[in-house]
Amino acid sequence: MSTLHLDHVSLVYDQRGQAGHLVLDGISRELGPDDFVTIVGRSGSGKTSLLNIAAGFVAPTRGRVSLDGQPVKGPGADRAVVFQDDALFPWLSARENVAFALKLQGISKAERAARADGLLEAVGLARAGNKAIWQLSGGMRQRVGIARALAADPRFLLMDEPLGALDAMTRERMQELLLDVWRKSGAGVLLITHGIEEALFLGSRVVVLSANPGRVVADLSFDFGRRFLAGEAARSVKSDPQFIAAREHLRDLIDEEQQDIAA
Ligand SMILES: Nc1ncnc2c1ncn2[C@@H]1O[C@H](COP(=O)(O)OP(=O)(O)O)[C@@H](O)[C@H]1O
Ligand SMILES: [Mg+2]
Repeated sequence: MSTLHLDHVSLVYDQRGQAGHLVLDGISRELGPDDFVTIVGRSGSGKTSLLNIAAGFVAPTRGRVSLDGQPVKGPGADRAVVFQDDALFPWLSARENVAFALKLQGISKAERAARADGLLEAVGLARAGNKAIWQLSGGMRQRVGIARALAADPRFLLMDEPLGALDAMTRERMQELLLDVWRKSGAGVLLITHGIEEALFLGSRVVVLSANPGRVVADLSFDFGRRFLAGEAARSVKSDPQFIAAREHLRDLIDEEQQDIAA
């Protein structure tokens, strides 16, 4: 059972000849193994920067990142990352793309193939193992990317707008798949999205970031995703008056934020 801890994290990007640009200001948050935390905020509010810090790609200017009390000094297999346009290896099959991560861990070829097939099945691609990447739709490619991320058996899955490039219907199916992956993998999830409804449906917690600088405006708990996992239809969850009220509340929080900037 792991916890990823951001402790008073601030980030300043240097700008040539000018004072640095404060992008994130004093962010303290914890991500536990049972959490599905979604982050929403305007474009430029530092969402990607925050994920890059959690992943260990970028070091915070101030503050600390730790995993179970150990300082995070860089990327690690415990934190798998999925981006919007994740590059798969086009010359490898879907199975080989997933198995590649296992090869780096020194796992035998037969076991790699078996585990890759299990992961592809978990993302609804049980029969696509032999397919070439160019034969797969956008949604299928993104599922291969998620299976590949899961291959390292990460404790945390960090995703930056993973569904942003998909059409609306595929996106809804993928949201359901992500909830399923969250439940089955036992990994804590941090997911960035600019879709308020998506954040609310998926997030056991929704964190709203302000812009310039990025600060936590709200951190709210919801059970809509868990209701879906317990068997309620996604449409029923999303049309529940509680869901709609929460969605409008989140929208207001983000709009207020924009008005402050305009004022
Ligand atoms: N590598 C970088 N160097 C300098 N400024 C950056 C860099 N990456 C992002 N920024 C700036 O930091 C701010 C936050 O960017 P980002 O984290 O990408 O926000 P978001 O993902 O919420 O759109 C933006 O103003 C962006 O221009
Ligand atoms: Mg971004």
